[in-house]
Amino acid sequence: MTEALLDVRDLRLGVVQKRATLHAILKGVSFQILPGEAYGLVGESGSGKSVTSLAIMGLLGKPLSVTGGALLFKGQNLLDLSKREMRRLRGNRIAMIFQEPMTALNPLATVGRQIAEMYMLHQGKGRQEAQELAIEALASVRVPNPDRRAKDYPHQMSGGLRQRVMIAMALACDPDLLIADEPTTALDVTVQAEVLRLIKDLCAERGTAVLFISHDLGVIASICQRVGVMYAGCLVEENETKALFQDPRHEYTRGLLGALPQLGSRSQNGRRRLVDIDSIIADRSKLTETSFIVPRRPQGGQA
Ligand SMILES: Nc1ncnc2c1ncn2[C@@H]1O[C@H](COP(=O)(O)OP(=O)(O)O)[C@@H](O)[C@H]1O
Ligand SMILES: [Mg+2]
Repeated sequence: MTEALLDVRDLRLGVVQKRATLHAILKGVSFQILPGEAYGLVGESGSGKSVTSLAIMGLLGKPLSVTGGALLFKGQNLLDLSKREMRRLRGNRIAMIFQEPMTALNPLATVGRQIAEMYMLHQGKGRQEAQELAIEALASVRVPNPDRRAKDYPHQMSGGLRQRVMIAMALACDPDLLIADEPTTALDVTVQAEVLRLIKDLCAERGTAVLFISHDLGVIASICQRVGVMYAGCLVEENETKALFQDPRHEYTRGLLGALPQLGSRSQNGRRRLVDIDSIIADRSKLTETSFIVPRRPQGGQA
């Protein structure tokens, strides 16, 4: 049996005040990610996906606090680490990309410099070498004219390019685990497909495991081998992606699948056909905008 890279065991967290839990948010969530595996967490807005990832990163802020369970990373419980040890791990062994790169990037520094800082901070590289590595990193995330774009400030880039910069920063130290929380939700459909492909290809090349979070089961299906379905602070179902589509057990999962538009026509008895998962997995980017758009929540109703 392969040992899990990340073993989330009965994770509980909630709104805590004076050591009393006022409100439970995660009610015992368990899942494992194997080395190099892409694991998806799907669920509607408010189901507890982001707080799960923040707990793993050690970034839960007041009033939220872990109230039970364990977060074993390579066998070590992250909950036992000091703030300093956790800081060293973050960005180094575990890296994260967020939905809105603008909030994570420094508006006052060029993107080249921000990527270079990752190499200086975590790998002790000198300024010159770090700058060269930064340009290579921009090339590896398929940014055109990387030596010129390295001199851009974040606001001079499109949302898609900014997200590529975030990916370059996250992968700079060759982490074992990349956490991606709705990394493409704010992007146009075509750009979204490119960024997904990029994450998928880069992590496969480097053997980086991914915890991929989305409210969109189609996005998860295009990138993850296994999926956990979250509902109201619980992991209600888990399966191989394909099996989940073919044989959803939980009522809520069926609901999520029902939200996906059909790719084929209706079957003879008028019932919906199961979504053609193979074609989604094969190449999401080839699907036209009209053939595969999961209904979005209204603007502002962010997952
Ligand atoms: N800082 C906070 N204080 C209180 N409740 C919070 C806080 N952050 C998140 N929550 C609650 O935790 C639940 C899960 O949130 P979240 O993990 O952000 O959901 P998701 O990412 O699945 O949309 C929600 O009910 C949300 O209201
Ligand atoms: Mg979220």
